[in-house]
Amino acid sequence: MDSILVRGNGPLNGDIEIAGAKNACLALMPATLLSEEPLTLTNAPRLSDIKTMTALLASLGAEVSALQDGKVQAMSSHGEINPVADYDIVRKMRASNLVLGPLLARLGHAVVSLPGGCAIGARPMDLHTTALEALGAEIELKDGYLHATAKGGLKGAVHHMRFPSVGATENFVMAASLAKGTSVLENAAREPEIVDLCDCLIKMGAQVEGAGSSRIEIQGVDRLHGATHPVVTDRIELGTFMLAPAICGGEVTCLGGKLSLVESFVGKLEQAGISVSENARGLTVKRNGERVKAVDVVTEPFPGFPTDLQAQMMALLCTAEGTSVLEETIFENRFMHAPELIRMGAQIEVHGGHATVHGVGKLKGAPVMATDLRASVSLILAGLAAEGETVVSRVYHLDRGYEFIEQKLSGLGAHIERIKS
Ligand code: UD1
Repeated sequence: MDSILVRGNGPLNGDIEIAGAKNACLALMPATLLSEEPLTLTNAPRLSDIKTMTALLASLGAEVSALQDGKVQAMSSHGEINPVADYDIVRKMRASNLVLGPLLARLGHAVVSLPGGCAIGARPMDLHTTALEALGAEIELKDGYLHATAKGGLKGAVHHMRFPSVGATENFVMAASLAKGTSVLENAAREPEIVDLCDCLIKMGAQVEGAGSSRIEIQGVDRLHGATHPVVTDRIELGTFMLAPAICGGEVTCLGGKLSLVESFVGKLEQAGISVSENARGLTVKRNGERVKAVDVVTEPFPGFPTDLQAQMMALLCTAEGTSVLEETIFENRFMHAPELIRMGAQIEVHGGHATVHGVGKLKGAPVMATDLRASVSLILAGLAAEGETVVSRVYHLDRGYEFIEQKLSGLGAHIERIKS
């Protein structure tokens, strides 16, 4: 297994490209199952998760071709579609569950493996199944697989979700696009990736209103057609790279970055003493020589502070002046980076969903282990600001969500290299 070596070597400066959003692309790709005509996604990120979704869609009978080095994903589901999403693929990536709604809408039945455990929490599927049941599906669990059927097709309905789940909102909207009549999802998730999916569905002929608000209304249509759609900017990669100059000092412009994607996160950076400005090229982040200040952070569904930036923000706060409290409200077990940061000299106490971080002047390099995708990158950020060398092992997590990270950060002057095993 590869590892990444980082050496703390001072301020970072320059421009960095931000890729298309992994989480948007993983929801957009299954939308190909909703139409027999081609769907082309531009600005796709080059990531192992996208390859996993490609393998899943191919196993279902879709044709997926990566063009222009993977920046364009051209898909077609004109042939016969297989309703079974196999455990062997689904267990690798939870977002595989996003084929459930489209398969059900297209075929009237679907058999999708439950994804199983996940390092950051239990992550059940009840919000997906109740949302699809509201549209008339009957779903039962047999042998680890969800067997879903909609005899006579899906029917529009009003459904209120108990929590604004991102994936369940995506499954509901895709399924409702081809249901008979009008569907309304109340307490829908509002993430930019949902807006992006709905924009693409509208290009495919779907009638969707209210994406980005907590009430989405969908008027079902008989069929959807082909479309070409650019994947929205990855706000999590954006926030991660904004933290690089925040931790190391310097001035970095994240090309294509937009404030509207990361407003609550930027609010916290500014409280910590980091300057952020939006300009025609993207977002420019600057930190002068002063030590950052402690801030408290609570993760929340969008537009709140994203759980997917909590680990990286903790890396910053480890060196802040004063004590910060991070509260994780989305996942029950998302502080596994804390013991690794402690190995680097951080002072962190974790009690349930709260982590108290007492800022220390400087972290020290150490061998550390990544436990999930965002934890891995938080350790890289911490290593960039630490004295000496940090080796982050198990970086296959990193490759799921960050394309060419060594090249991108080296371009800013960081000392980072991959050690091939
Ligand atoms: C998506 C993102 C992930 C991000 C998360 C929260 C993708 C591919 N992944 O994941 O990076 O961290 O949103 O912003 O877009 N829950 C249930 N029952 C369900 C579904 C979810 O209880 O049926 C719970 C989960 O366990 C979790 C919370 O709801 O505690 C949020 O999950 P959800 O919004 O569904 O996240 P994902 O769509 O899986």
